[in-house]
Amino acid sequence: MNPDIFEAFREIVYDRSGIHLREGKEALVSARVGKRMRALGLTDYGQYLRRIKEDETGEEIVQLLDAISTNVTSFFREPEHFDFLAARLGEWYAAGQRRFRLWSAACSSGEEPYSLAMTMREAFPENGVDARILATDISTRVLERSLPGCYRADKVEPVPPEKRDRYFERQGRGEETVFQVREGLRKPVLFRRLNLSQPPFPMRGPLDVIFCRNVMIYFDNLVRKRLLDEMYRLLKPGGYLMVGHAESLTGMMSEFKVVKPSIYVKKE
Ligand SMILES: C[S@@+](CC[C@H](N)C(=O)[O-])C[C@H]1O[C@@H](n2cnc3c(N)ncnc32)[C@H](O)[C@@H]1O
Repeated sequence: MNPDIFEAFREIVYDRSGIHLREGKEALVSARVGKRMRALGLTDYGQYLRRIKEDETGEEIVQLLDAISTNVTSFFREPEHFDFLAARLGEWYAAGQRRFRLWSAACSSGEEPYSLAMTMREAFPENGVDARILATDISTRVLERSLPGCYRADKVEPVPPEKRDRYFERQGRGEETVFQVREGLRKPVLFRRLNLSQPPFPMRGPLDVIFCRNVMIYFDNLVRKRLLDEMYRLLKPGGYLMVGHAESLTGMMSEFKVVKPSIYVKKE
């Protein structure tokens, strides 16, 4: 991939998703874009760029972003966040709160929002609680996978066995075994496509907790700051923001108070 073509992909990806492809990512971009081009029967990058720009449906840019972005995730990833959440939910419930709104921003294939749903179910009884989880991602491909909540056996390994039995239905046998999230746990989770690089967002808030983990690493500081300001606006005073452990947001979290590394609270 020559530098001009790389620059053209960089611009269009940044423009549409806020994802900042750093210098030196040529090989990665060329491999991922190449795969998509083969699927379309195209051999020339210029031709593919034209196809994206001329596509009025916006479908092809979604395909390109799908090809470019990394969707790695897992159930109960960075488990301290879920322990912390369970404790706060318990406290809020004990204090009389009965409406809970959580947001998994950049939810990938659903493991994160379903882990939130399990944590919520364990924190308080189902009856008399209005609890919902918004789960968003830019990738339509991962959202389509999330909705039915079906996971291969190796994917549900991080889920403790008693939770797996309670919240998943086992289907098939041997290598074909699939675990489907039970309907009762799927119901409170609402999946929507949302581009985090383009605030303001249509949600009304106020939200109790936002998980925005392992996505800001792809953004530059401008996009990160805009997103953090919007999440601050949407949180209730005393609401929490969790970010990925590997994300360094030093100097950008002026409004938030640090609770511990990767956990922030909106001041009361
Ligand atoms: C590495 S996954 C993180 C999943 C999950 N939050 C976790 O920590 O396990 C990153 C996700 O961010 C999504 N993403 C990338 N750019 C985005 C954007 N501009 N708006 C919303 N989602 C985006 C990708 O599609 C991908 O599913």
